[in-house]
Amino acid sequence: MTEKEILKSLESTVFNAVRHVADLDKIETYVIGGFVRDMFLGIPSKDVDIVVRGSGIEMAQKVATKLGGLKVSVFKNFGTAMFKYRDVEVEFVGARKESYQRNSRKPIVEDGTIQDDQDRRDFTINALALSLNSETFGHLVDPFNGLEDLKNGIIRTPLEPGVTFSDDPLRMLRAVRFAARFKFTIEEGTFEGIKNNRERIEIVSGERVVDELNKMIMSEKPSLAFKLLEITGLLALILPELQAMKGVEEKKGKRHKDNFYHTLQVLDRIVPFTDDLWLRWAAVFHDIAKPVTKRFDDKLGWTFHAHNHIGQKMVPKIFKRMKFPMNDKMKFVQKMVYLHMRPIVLSEDVVTDSAVRRLLFDAGDDIDSLMTLCEADITSKNEDKVRKYMKNFKVVRQKLKEIEEKDKVRNFQPPVSGEDIMEAFGIEPCREIGDIKAAIKEAILEGEINNDRDQAYRLMLKLGQDMGLTPKMKD
Ligand code: CTP
Repeated sequence: MTEKEILKSLESTVFNAVRHVADLDKIETYVIGGFVRDMFLGIPSKDVDIVVRGSGIEMAQKVATKLGGLKVSVFKNFGTAMFKYRDVEVEFVGARKESYQRNSRKPIVEDGTIQDDQDRRDFTINALALSLNSETFGHLVDPFNGLEDLKNGIIRTPLEPGVTFSDDPLRMLRAVRFAARFKFTIEEGTFEGIKNNRERIEIVSGERVVDELNKMIMSEKPSLAFKLLEITGLLALILPELQAMKGVEEKKGKRHKDNFYHTLQVLDRIVPFTDDLWLRWAAVFHDIAKPVTKRFDDKLGWTFHAHNHIGQKMVPKIFKRMKFPMNDKMKFVQKMVYLHMRPIVLSEDVVTDSAVRRLLFDAGDDIDSLMTLCEADITSKNEDKVRKYMKNFKVVRQKLKEIEEKDKVRNFQPPVSGEDIMEAFGIEPCREIGDIKAAIKEAILEGEINNDRDQAYRLMLKLGQDMGLTPKMKD
């Protein structure tokens, strides 16, 4: 980027207002961090971090006034203040020196110089600062050669890695996230620093960890992040269940596939087809019970019997530990894990109407997500096999459409209710009502009757009579 281009990027109402206030009060002021990094990478950013040699809060208030009296949120404890200008979030902080205690992410903070402030940042590429004072407007302050690292695609801590990571262990996950997102390499010393400090991830709250993982999952190629998490030893600490999937065992000349790498492949394959964070997590967890269900059978070879069922049960435990939300999102992931083999099993065989109807009934409105997951799950080195599956899958999709149009079982509502049954036979609530309803549902799913009230009513009368009930005479 030339100086002219830098100045052009700083040509905004916000930066002009900051410049004005900074000049007037003669306060050294910089834009720093992610905004500057992204600017050099040519990525537009809506998060602006301003660091001033003085009070960030005061500066924020003055700039907000200059911009027409914007509402400022002040975080006194952190010495920061922020406002939103159009869709840009601008945060102000006083330059500071920080030192950390061993058991907490909360630092002891003192006022400092811009260099002190840059020292305490996570990576050289995030420590780049551009001056916003008129005399030096647009000058880059880059004490750690961050620009060079940015050009060469390197993630490196400004200080000795042990210090940076032990100060704030969340940065180990940030290193992985940035490396994966920008397809950068983690510099050797920094990498070693992560490995050596990995146990410190324990002091980071579950929510912060999940927040980082979610960002990794939402990146273009999440497998890159998970591979880095694995080789740094972080994965074994934060998601041991996924770590356990790594490796291949061989018995009597038979090997199973490495389920960790298979999972990552599925995750990458689903990315172009969905931005739904939870469907992406479902891809991560779909085979999570394979390690615990793995058996070797002399005839069958390796089996993972009921891994979908056990996997579904593992999901809440993982969600609870990881501080994921324990809500309908979790239920969705469970459902995906439980059903993930159904469409593929279907496509292996002759696709019958009743099997498709059952799948629609079980998946309900999540049928499209399930199909997306299942299609991403088709990974094999054997191209012919993949092609065959994909072709069959098309048939399944087509059938799903036809049957849904015809039978409407996607969100099945019983065409005959319990009240109908009680009314028809003049009976009180009893077990027979449930049995009749279940038999009607079965008949519809099997295609013996259509999903319509008349046919269901007639079947109900017959079933009741077979059970010894007598229909009430109509008045
Ligand atoms: N920072 C840090 N250590 C952290 C978090 C943040 O040193 N644990 C510093 C970095 O200089 C970072 C800046 O604070 O650039 C702003 O942090 P944040 O907004 O979280 O991230 P960005 O770097 O802006 O990147 P992104 O928005 O893509 O997460």
